[in-house]
Amino acid sequence: MDKQFKRTLVTCALPYANGPIHIGHLAGVYVPADIYVRYLRMRGKEVLYVCGSDEHGVPITIKARQQGCSPQDIVDRYHGIIKDSFEGLGIHFDIYGRTSSKVHADTSSEFFRRLYDAGKFITKESEQYYDPEAKTFLADRYIVGTCPKCGNEGAYGDQCEKCGSTLSPEELINPKSKLSGAAPVKKKTTHWYLPLQDYEPWLREWILEGHTEWRSNVYGQVKSWLDGGLQPRAVTRDLDWGVPVPVEGAEGKVLYVWFDAPIGYISNTKELLPDSWEKWWKSPDTRLIHFIGKDNIVFHCIVFPSMLKAYGDGFILPDNVPANEFLNLEGDKISTSRGWAVWAHEYLQDFPGKEDVLRYVLTANAPETKDNDFSWKDFQQRNNSELVAIFGNFVNRAMVLTHKYFDGKVPPCGTLEDIDREALAEIPALKASMERNLEGFRFREALKDAMGIARVGNKYISDTEPWKVAKTDLDRTATILNLSLQICADLAIAFEPFTPFAAKRLREMLGSPLDWEVLGRPQILPAGHVLGAAELLFAKIEDDAIDRQLARLDAIRAEREAAAKAEAAKQVAPQKDGCTFDEFEKMDIRTATVLEAERVPKTDKLLKLTIDTGIDRRVIVSGIAEYYSPEAMVGRQICILANLQPRTIRGIESKGMILMAKQGDGSMRFITPEEAVCNGAQIG
Ligand code: MF3
Ligand code: ZN
Repeated sequence: MDKQFKRTLVTCALPYANGPIHIGHLAGVYVPADIYVRYLRMRGKEVLYVCGSDEHGVPITIKARQQGCSPQDIVDRYHGIIKDSFEGLGIHFDIYGRTSSKVHADTSSEFFRRLYDAGKFITKESEQYYDPEAKTFLADRYIVGTCPKCGNEGAYGDQCEKCGSTLSPEELINPKSKLSGAAPVKKKTTHWYLPLQDYEPWLREWILEGHTEWRSNVYGQVKSWLDGGLQPRAVTRDLDWGVPVPVEGAEGKVLYVWFDAPIGYISNTKELLPDSWEKWWKSPDTRLIHFIGKDNIVFHCIVFPSMLKAYGDGFILPDNVPANEFLNLEGDKISTSRGWAVWAHEYLQDFPGKEDVLRYVLTANAPETKDNDFSWKDFQQRNNSELVAIFGNFVNRAMVLTHKYFDGKVPPCGTLEDIDREALAEIPALKASMERNLEGFRFREALKDAMGIARVGNKYISDTEPWKVAKTDLDRTATILNLSLQICADLAIAFEPFTPFAAKRLREMLGSPLDWEVLGRPQILPAGHVLGAAELLFAKIEDDAIDRQLARLDAIRAEREAAAKAEAAKQVAPQKDGCTFDEFEKMDIRTATVLEAERVPKTDKLLKLTIDTGIDRRVIVSGIAEYYSPEAMVGRQICILANLQPRTIRGIESKGMILMAKQGDGSMRFITPEEAVCNGAQIG
């Protein structure tokens, strides 16, 4: 750990309070941050752990409109749900504030005002879309129209959610305001911009030269932004939800959410520590670490640092920004709007007492260097064959045997044998590796090290078989169990960052300390020390719990596929080229009745139909087997093209064609007269 810092300020991206949080957020930001903070605290470091809700921005106003309530109602609701989810998962921030608070309004206004007074902004006039009926400027999200790429009629001015294209309102065909339905018009408006290009040389030096140790995904993204050339960034918006722009002539304007939200880290610190917040933000002894997801990199590495630099006054800059990639769910991108997610608050309800399991799986699978996938089968497997079968099983054997043979007291340690020394020797190495990995933000690897200690213990007790040795040699049994219990005490420390609930219960069972320094030391638990009752640390997860989750996801998938199909079915083919009446008259179209129907062997699509055409009985082979069973066809009245040239299909001569209505998705229905008519009635 860097010696030059006295304390660490850890921030987590402020989640938008427009929906609950899901496993993607947890894996990307909050679980790794929590591991880091717990580790530092265990090492006795001074840490401040800050987060809160991001309560501004257009999506919140849209959600409010959809639900017929105010933006404040929306943020109140989700702020509560999100805060509870964090608490439920053992993620205890020192402060979980809100950007709708008074402190935040004051802090962010003052921040803007100072930059404004110091001439750090430029103003620019631009043309923005305006709703002439609602008399308000429109954010891109408030403009809907037809996607030029895929024809989706509900595409937004910034994105088509159907085909995923990034759009601008100009590209939409037939754009309409979501507020009034009116066609938006362009209107001039003036905004304040931070001229980021002025900060480019400084950013290059600070990050590209000074922070080559940053994760390659973060460093690479910063480099490509800088190489692409920075542009002035608007820091205000025409909107009625947010922090009002605190200068004359800015009526109807608010601070852009990405200007005010990161200041939220500062306001939340101030809210918690009104008198001492500055030591966390303005002292070179403080090390600032931002935990974020990859979509936040530019704001935390370029925009916010430039804002802090512009403000001056000794604000510190992040020392590292460990951003994660994305987590997918069962092979598909997590999507809030499509409901494709595992929500934290629902998980807590569905799996009470299994907070650690989610933390464990999200860490073991963390998207640290590339996007990664969460699957319920993997979740079950990791619980059953790692947490239960290795960690839990080892601890349980050590505890139960100690109660059985030694009355629940730590037995004395006798002479060590090679197998004992070998097992014990592995622990300091794993501890050192864990330290390097945790301090280097490689949490997956650190978890492997911790699990390595459990594996050492589990193997040791399996190889030494104290339950057998006890029949002949109680002194040797005492040594084996003594050492096993010491390893349990190591685990109760090593797992504190990852599975804090189980680690705490284990410490309570053992009466063991939480102190990183003692991990790996001999005889953490002295002989004669009295243990608590043996309790299972982890329980098996059965198939039915997993099947319920999979069924829920299957239902979402099925719904989505049905909606996509229904959409495709509506696609209507364009009109064909013209034909003359004479050409039409050549076609002999008439009614007929199906007498017999059977599948054409070895095909999926073909039915052989014997029909009464009023003129004769004949056979027609038709490609409708995907839509109708033979039984469903018998007795039905249909329409046919009778004089089509006969064709031989699969060795069967087919005379004519059944008329079908074919939809955009390829599905077909036969045509039947509205009331039964005689066979052979001519259609035209
Ligand atoms: N609300 C943003 C998101 O969820 C994160 C804001 S981080 C902050 O992507 F720094 F701006 F607060
Ligand atoms: Zn599209």
